[in-house]
Amino acid sequence: MPPATQHRIPGAELRWNYEEIDFDAIDCEAIRNDQLMFYMLASASLVEIMAELYASNLIEKFRDTPEVVGWLGTYWQREEAQHGYALKAYVEHVWPEFDWQAANTRFRAEYGALCTEEQLEPSPALELIARCVVETGTTTMYHAVHDYVREPVLRQLFANIKTDEANHYSHFRQYYESYAQSRAHSAWAVARTIWRRMTDIHTEDSYIAFKHVFAVRNPGQPFRQEDWRNFSRTVKDKARSHYPYAVAVKMLVRLIPLPQIFLQILQWPLLGIARLASRK
Ligand SMILES: [Fe+2]
Ligand SMILES: [Fe+2]
Repeated sequence: MPPATQHRIPGAELRWNYEEIDFDAIDCEAIRNDQLMFYMLASASLVEIMAELYASNLIEKFRDTPEVVGWLGTYWQREEAQHGYALKAYVEHVWPEFDWQAANTRFRAEYGALCTEEQLEPSPALELIARCVVETGTTTMYHAVHDYVREPVLRQLFANIKTDEANHYSHFRQYYESYAQSRAHSAWAVARTIWRRMTDIHTEDSYIAFKHVFAVRNPGQPFRQEDWRNFSRTVKDKARSHYPYAVAVKMLVRLIPLPQIFLQILQWPLLGIARLASRK
């Protein structure tokens, strides 16, 4: 499989460039003591940069559709990696004592081994559904943290990233709709894929990233499951007043191939379930 870089459209520009961000303008006092943001930003930077590694698996999955391959190589992969590099630069600026490289090496060794083609969905159409679920998760998560943080440079960074993520969702959904015209899956198959990816989204990659960030941040202190549970609980507690539940439900429900009237009815109980689940 040729590297993902070979699929790029020459000269294509991204919407923003993290190297143009003035990291010296960060109000370090406003953010440095926020441990929750440290763990979130450091973990997210590790996960986002991994797009460089698994983009080639995804490109291989869509090898029969040059339009998807071109967009993945030209925009999606570079934008995801840029999210990671921008967050890394931010973390290194505010918490210079943190050895980001050590955490990245540990994370890549464990998570990289899991990034295989077998992890993808059985058909390209269902993989597009899975991608929409992941992009729904990132769009709404960056929306919530953008609402939560007060530090101006980070707010701008989150604004850039959440716009990219929403854009990714729209692209994957549009490609799914083209696929579905000739290779449709049942509403059940789509709903099952959504459910599976939703239950994955905040576990595997985020969990592994947090574990290694924690280990590097706290040398000599063994990582315990309780540390992850405490972190997840704090994120949920803080997110409750910032997370756009209705947007998330709407983005996911519209993927299911059912008549519009059913989808509208379905949204309300699902919104209730999502809010209840956030209290557990
Ligand atoms: Fe991203
Ligand atoms: Fe994305």
